[in-house]
Amino acid sequence: MQAYILDFANFMLRWLHVIAAIAWIGESIYFVMLDNSLKPPKDESCRKKGVFGEMWAVHGGGFYHNQKYATSPEALPDDLHWSFWKSYTTWLSGFALFVILYMVNPGFYLVNPDSDWAWAAGMTGWQANVLALLFLLGGWVVYNELCKRISPDMQRDGLLSLGVAVLMVVVAYLSTQMFAGRAAFLLTGAVMATAMSANVFFWIIPGQRRMVAAMKAGETPNPLDGKRGKQRSVHNTYFTLPVVLLMISNHYSFAYSHEYAWVIMSLFIFAGALIRQFFVLMHSGKIQPAYPAAGVLLLAVALWIAAPASGPAVARDTADAGPSLEEVHAIVENRCVACHSREPSQPGFGSAPAGITYDTEDQVHRQMEQIKQVVGSGYMPLGNMTGMTDEERATIAAWSD
Ligand code: HEC
Repeated sequence: MQAYILDFANFMLRWLHVIAAIAWIGESIYFVMLDNSLKPPKDESCRKKGVFGEMWAVHGGGFYHNQKYATSPEALPDDLHWSFWKSYTTWLSGFALFVILYMVNPGFYLVNPDSDWAWAAGMTGWQANVLALLFLLGGWVVYNELCKRISPDMQRDGLLSLGVAVLMVVVAYLSTQMFAGRAAFLLTGAVMATAMSANVFFWIIPGQRRMVAAMKAGETPNPLDGKRGKQRSVHNTYFTLPVVLLMISNHYSFAYSHEYAWVIMSLFIFAGALIRQFFVLMHSGKIQPAYPAAGVLLLAVALWIAAPASGPAVARDTADAGPSLEEVHAIVENRCVACHSREPSQPGFGSAPAGITYDTEDQVHRQMEQIKQVVGSGYMPLGNMTGMTDEERATIAAWSD
């Protein structure tokens, strides 16, 4: 019953999370487009009022006229629209999902029993939970310090971007060493997503509040507040595509079960940022196909690295035609069916994970290719909870029709 309730809650939270993320990222993409599409106003009186850019748009059967002020308008309206709840809702629902999916079963989902680091491979579930939280917090602290130290007055933002890029490779590397592959991809995405929301919470919104307060008091707002808000929101722009990719990576074990998962993940992150760069430039009228081309090139390198090695990892010392279906089914029954059954016997599983069941020989036969893939990459059995041996893996690798 408890597993069922968690599953249901997971389903509903995922719904909320995806909707909130669509709203937030959609708005963020919209404002980058708006900012980069602004043209000097045609109307002289607008310019006199301090408007430096405008955009006309038609949408949903109506015409819209956006104007951006160089510094601030003479007077502020009472009903100024603010954007922050979409960001906070996305983060909060994402964090809740992480708690009920990963932190409730850290032994399966967080611990990486194959880590090169013995202390990480031997972590208890609770230690893994604490480490995951520290990882998220640490990611934000280091990123925020980089911003404050490298480019405090927004003069060295280029160098800062380089620093953030290096940081992401380090995060990718550490996460794949410390956590199970699927969690490593998710947590790296979550480090970026946390930085995005924290940028909104700790810098962008407070800066805007200070600007509004100054204007209401008849003072000139501190230009650093505006510039810093822009700096952080530019970072957020380049995080969006990589974050979404990592968040939807959880079924693609070829990527995260790989020995060089951190390299594959880094390639994905940079490809996302490069593709985003194309659209950012496109909105200001510059078409530069070199950016998406470079992004696609990185994806091609990832495709090449992640490709399965040909031939079984461990040779089977038999000259016969390979194992029979009965032999394979017996292994699957021993090592997989505790979870992958219509009625799982493994505690914590209310229904077959990913909807995959191996109760009958026929089901095993039909799913041959997939079984070979997840067993070959070491992704399944999850956390090798059921103690599958290398010999059994070799048997499955040698299995063919
Ligand atoms: C301890 C429980 C457990 C055991 C044992 C287990 N699995 Fe899984 N399996 C899971 C969970 C949980 C998922 C869902 C993970 C996900 O969403 O990617 C999963 C997902 C899968 C998937 C889908 C992967 C995807 O990309 O969505 C396949 C295929 C699979 N398992 C095969 C196997 C095979 C074959 C075995 C035995 C060698 C096995 N599993 C043993 C828990 C288990």
